[in-house]
Amino acid sequence: MRMAGFFVLLLGSLLFAGQGSDTAVKKVPPKQTPIDSGAKMYREYCASCHGLHGTGDGPVAPTLVRRPTDLTLLSQKNGGKFPVLLVKNSIQNGVTTAHGSKDMPVWGPILSTVSQHSQALVTLRVENLTHYIETLQVK
Ligand code: HEC
Repeated sequence: MRMAGFFVLLLGSLLFAGQGSDTAVKKVPPKQTPIDSGAKMYREYCASCHGLHGTGDGPVAPTLVRRPTDLTLLSQKNGGKFPVLLVKNSIQNGVTTAHGSKDMPVWGPILSTVSQHSQALVTLRVENLTHYIETLQVK
């Protein structure tokens, strides 16, 4: 069932405690994930906002000021080429826009705490996450 899936992924970085319109997003410590699985990291850390399939429709999305980017259109919006560096940089350092709102978390430090602060492991996690997002691109 769809809702059950949502609850599992929400327990990751964000806990969604909602009753009707009285909705609150609670931050909880990041869960450990396998370094070699971009898919599992994505589900745990990203899907709550960006949606299970990357289209930006995760259950937390309505609580944010900025709509989470549709990650399936990154190649399309970049002339058909997947923007590897932009994605890696957004994950490591977050997204700053001209409007200053920062709804996209900075994942560098979070990935570091789940990697025993090994920079090599953080790099590997970012590589695997980025590769997974590449597989979500619409053709
Ligand atoms: C709390 C919600 C939230 C979570 C969790 C989240 N994001 Fe985002 N993300 C956003 C929002 C909102 C934006 C759009 C930012 C803007 O336009 O200001 C965004 C934008 C992005 C972008 C586009 C950057 C650009 O410059 O176009 C990428 C790539 C991205 N996120 C990747 C990820 C990945 C990978 C994860 C998991 C490790 C993740 N996000 C987790 C909210 C989130």
